[in-house]
Amino acid sequence: MTLLKTNGLNTYYGESHILRDVDINIKTGEMVCLIGRNGVGKTTFLKSLIGLLTPRSGEIIFNGELINRKPPHQRARSGIAYVPQGREIIPYLSVEENLQLGMEALPGGLANHKKIDDLVFELFPVLKKFLPRRGGDLSGGQQQQLAIARALLGKPKLLLLDEPTEGIQPNIVLDIESAVKRIISETGIAVLLVEQHLHFVKQADRYYAMQRGGIVANGPTSELSKAVVEKFLSV
Ligand SMILES: Nc1ncnc2c1ncn2[C@@H]1O[C@H](COP(=O)(O)OP(=O)(O)OP(=O)(O)O)[C@@H](O)[C@H]1O
Ligand SMILES: [Mg+2]
Repeated sequence: MTLLKTNGLNTYYGESHILRDVDINIKTGEMVCLIGRNGVGKTTFLKSLIGLLTPRSGEIIFNGELINRKPPHQRARSGIAYVPQGREIIPYLSVEENLQLGMEALPGGLANHKKIDDLVFELFPVLKKFLPRRGGDLSGGQQQQLAIARALLGKPKLLLLDEPTEGIQPNIVLDIESAVKRIISETGIAVLLVEQHLHFVKQADRYYAMQRGGIVANGPTSELSKAVVEKFLSV
């Protein structure tokens, strides 16, 4: 079943035309990767999906519903979770409090949901160990794990990950990669990943390649050629 579909999405910053007629689709349970060099519009696209930016034209259909005009909190409640580039956990709150914030997206909000799902501790055991610690005192890789766990606690249907391995030690990159695979197999949600590490990109079922705000190539990641990789990945 198609979970997310965009039709001819165009997004601007003021007069700068960034996204150009972007059409993508993602099915339930699918892992899709968006690749492209620095500044082509990948983050702009994710922000348009979650409602932090308003496209000037085009449609976003999520779970059969047109969501273009919905504010970000309603999109979150309808099942889109977003882990921003740079993570944005709250440094002065504890790991536990940061995780609880993720449950605000659930029906009735945090008031009705206090217990943290054990799945996040199975995926990221380090978070259990550091529950009382301040989020800001975690390493970059641990903060990324916290940000993904927090997004997951809202029980999304679609998880948007913006360069989750950027600036992270290689051993934790592999931990994050396997956690994302496990999230998909255990929860059946879909993931849209923006990523530069080829190994991680290849875990996805399909890719879309973006250039100057438009989609210029797409297909199964098993068919990602060396030429495409060199053209669209920075590493
Ligand atoms: N707040 C903003 N105001 C104006 N222009 C912006 C703003 N944010 C981004 N841009 C511009 O929009 C274009 C797309 O930026 P975007 O952040 O979406 O790229 P990206 O593909 O995510 O890049 P990166 O790989 O560096 O994260 C860039 O040219 C950027 O300079
Ligand atoms: Mg970006």
